Amino acid sequence: MKILIVGSGGREHAIAWKVAQSPLAEKIYCAPGNAGIAEVAECVPITAMEFDRLAAFAKENAIDLTIVGMDDPLVGGIVDVFEAQGLRIFGPRKNAAILEGSKAFSKDLMKKYGIPTAAYETFDNADAAIAYLETAKFPIVLKADGLALGKGVLICEDLETAKAGVKEIMQDKKFGTAGDRMVIEEFLTGREVSVLSFVDGKIVKTMASAQDHKRAKDGDRGLNTGGMGNFSPTPFYTKEVDAFCQKYVFQPTVDAMAAEGRPFKGVIFFGLILTEDGPKVLEYNARFGDPEAQVVLPRMKNDIIEVVEACIDGTLDQIDLQFMDDACVCVVLASDGYPVSYQKGFPIHGLEAFRGNDTCFCFHAGSKFNEKGEIVTNGGRVLGITALGKDLKTARANAYKAAEWVSFDNKYFRHDIGYAIDEFDRSLGIGAEA
Ligand code: AMP
Ligand code: GLY
Repeated sequence: MKILIVGSGGREHAIAWKVAQSPLAEKIYCAPGNAGIAEVAECVPITAMEFDRLAAFAKENAIDLTIVGMDDPLVGGIVDVFEAQGLRIFGPRKNAAILEGSKAFSKDLMKKYGIPTAAYETFDNADAAIAYLETAKFPIVLKADGLALGKGVLICEDLETAKAGVKEIMQDKKFGTAGDRMVIEEFLTGREVSVLSFVDGKIVKTMASAQDHKRAKDGDRGLNTGGMGNFSPTPFYTKEVDAFCQKYVFQPTVDAMAAEGRPFKGVIFFGLILTEDGPKVLEYNARFGDPEAQVVLPRMKNDIIEVVEACIDGTLDQIDLQFMDDACVCVVLASDGYPVSYQKGFPIHGLEAFRGNDTCFCFHAGSKFNEKGEIVTNGGRVLGITALGKDLKTARANAYKAAEWVSFDNKYFRHDIGYAIDEFDRSLGIGAEA
């Protein structure tokens, strides 16, 4: 089969790497891809929002299957454009990708179908939002309705900050039209875990759990980022939590979408928070997480093409989804200064150490070839150093060892990815030595 992957980050590298392991894959293209993806796929200089050019490329090159990694093209309707031209593509149609594309939609869906989530109100004008805040309890959470590169969520400690937040979102339009509407919701406390799942329109099969570290600095300090590293599985996602979520969250969400006439096919990423009152949904994403894909896909035993095809065909019930017991940890090597301002264009050394290694992988998030043909840094997040291990601590040690193999100017990373593993041990009364 000829496969086209749409996107250019670490997630798309992990998807391309996994696709490359399938005996079904004859030729892999990635649009636009990056210097790491170029090792497993032919990169095509078309960006993810150029739907017509992508569809024309798929036709001209007889692509059998397109896999979309990113949220923007899915929410923008890439799947509808491809399907209208008879092209086979994996991902939700526009009317289902709204699960991620509109927080007001997803909150209303959860309310209507009794899926546990934070209490909330939706507003489409700033005055009404501010009037509501006057009587609200703090902290409180403000969310721009639409996609905002993961930045449209503000946690406000007091009325003044919240009023300023409403102004930023709805009046100054800091997140553009994403702020035409907003959700104001109850602040929840608890540990956050992510669960990725495959969905075929009717049924859901969950992949492994993962836990992300979003803050830029050690000890979960500093600004929020796209993710500085993560690990899978997370010990906090216990069998009991899984049983609850399977019953009250995962299948009910898929059933709700079908009942609304918006059958969802693709990947749903459930962003959960484990509160004292039980697990609740913080957010849905309509795609693999980045960097969740990097720690979940290396653990998946199945041929990803077979699973993706079953989702498209509505035959996911015939797939026995299996994951290795081995754990996986990803440490992001970033450019110093990320997520605010940073320099790019520095040569990356040491990448050859990963060739042929079946325990440690280097997924490129932001890299490119310069005019001399060298691989150079090209983003805030540069590489996702990912390692398997027989348990989380071994995987973490492997990932940190491999993080030293690579060098580039302004290399920056967190030293405590996976510290929650030690917290879990302590919660069981086990001493944490590393
Ligand atoms: P979201 O994009 O909705 O997942 O929000 C991004 C991040 O904001 C989450 O990963 C949480 O850390 C935080 N967050 C979102 N909603 C809430 C909430 N209701 N209570 C506490 N934290 C939240
Ligand atoms: N890691 C969070 C996301 O992909 O949205």
